[in-house]
Amino acid sequence: MSVLLEARQVRKVFHSGGGMWGAPHENVAVDGFSLRLSDAEPAFITIAGESGSGKTTIARLLLGFAEPSGGQVLYRGKDLRQLDPSGQRQFRHEVQAIFQDPFEVYNPFYKVDHILEIPIAKFGLASSPAQARQLMVEALQNVGLRPEETLGRYPHQLSGGQRQRITIARALLLKPRLVIADEPVSMVDASLRATILESLHQLHRDFGISFLYITHDLTTAYQVSQRIVVLYHGTVAEAGEVEQVIKHPKHPYTQELIRSIPVPDPGQGWIEEPVAEKEENEGSQALAGCRYAPRCPHAQPRCLQALPPLFRTEPQRAVACYLCDSAPQLAGENLSEVLEQGH
Ligand SMILES: Nc1ncnc2c1ncn2[C@@H]1O[C@H](COP(=O)(O)OP(=O)(O)OP(=O)(O)O)[C@@H](O)[C@H]1O
Ligand SMILES: [Mg+2]
Repeated sequence: MSVLLEARQVRKVFHSGGGMWGAPHENVAVDGFSLRLSDAEPAFITIAGESGSGKTTIARLLLGFAEPSGGQVLYRGKDLRQLDPSGQRQFRHEVQAIFQDPFEVYNPFYKVDHILEIPIAKFGLASSPAQARQLMVEALQNVGLRPEETLGRYPHQLSGGQRQRITIARALLLKPRLVIADEPVSMVDASLRATILESLHQLHRDFGISFLYITHDLTTAYQVSQRIVVLYHGTVAEAGEVEQVIKHPKHPYTQELIRSIPVPDPGQGWIEEPVAEKEENEGSQALAGCRYAPRCPHAQPRCLQALPPLFRTEPQRAVACYLCDSAPQLAGENLSEVLEQGH
């Protein structure tokens, strides 16, 4: 398999505190995360988990915006930190990021045109102004925007949904192999969410672009992705085919997450069980065992002693829970085996 991007046992520890705010504190945001994204087989994978579970940290590590405290991120087999300038340039071309509201970082005095012109100029995508204009028009149309309604405008003259689609158009101008999208629709209202996600999915189908869709929202994950990785406090709780994981969750944490999704049912009203009060993450770094054990209704003594490995319960499912220990362990903790297609 030709591997585009790979996380190998990646770990990220943040140090905080000390001084007048108390004792220094280590926060293990990501622990032993491994994932391979193939170049040959485009995938649409969701990384889901509650706030603070390490989703954005994983995105930043994969994009080279943060350095791992342990393990490696490899782009086409080379450590991201050791890429030469031409390798870095190729990486910035092939792997694109979409964040929640990137317009925060754009200069409000620049028109939309300028935002799209930058990557065209930087990567020499056009040989004439007319060709540059054509590329911009196509990129906007690909995400369902009308160029005549968007070009020539300033960011504040567009709706949140239009701004987010411009960001997507900008990422796609470069015809990337992979887009890492961190909560790309959480700032837009529900009616637009489906439209934007559908446009991402269409780009995946039409252009064979892989997507890593990062969200806390299992409903949209179910709508758009084929595979899902559920994170809990920086470790993988469960991963596999989205339909299986969401309809028949096996990890007690995934079960809790699914129960907390409100289900509108005209007959019964809202079926919503309250999620247990979240425990503070303080001290989770000292926990040798399962991070979820303090909250888990099925916890056994061994859950507190050692982190459960991933058990491969089905060809395309892995669960990090001792309740599943009759299944074989996933070799090398490599999630990709259960996330790849066609097994
Ligand atoms: N730069 C940083 N310095 C210190 N701690 C950080 C930093 N970035 C993230 N963290 C901590 O790492 C953990 C994971 O954070 P992260 O932003 O990855 O979570 P998330 O899953 O993206 O959450 P959300 O759904 O709220 O966006 C949290 O405990 C967070 O406080
Ligand atoms: Mg985040």
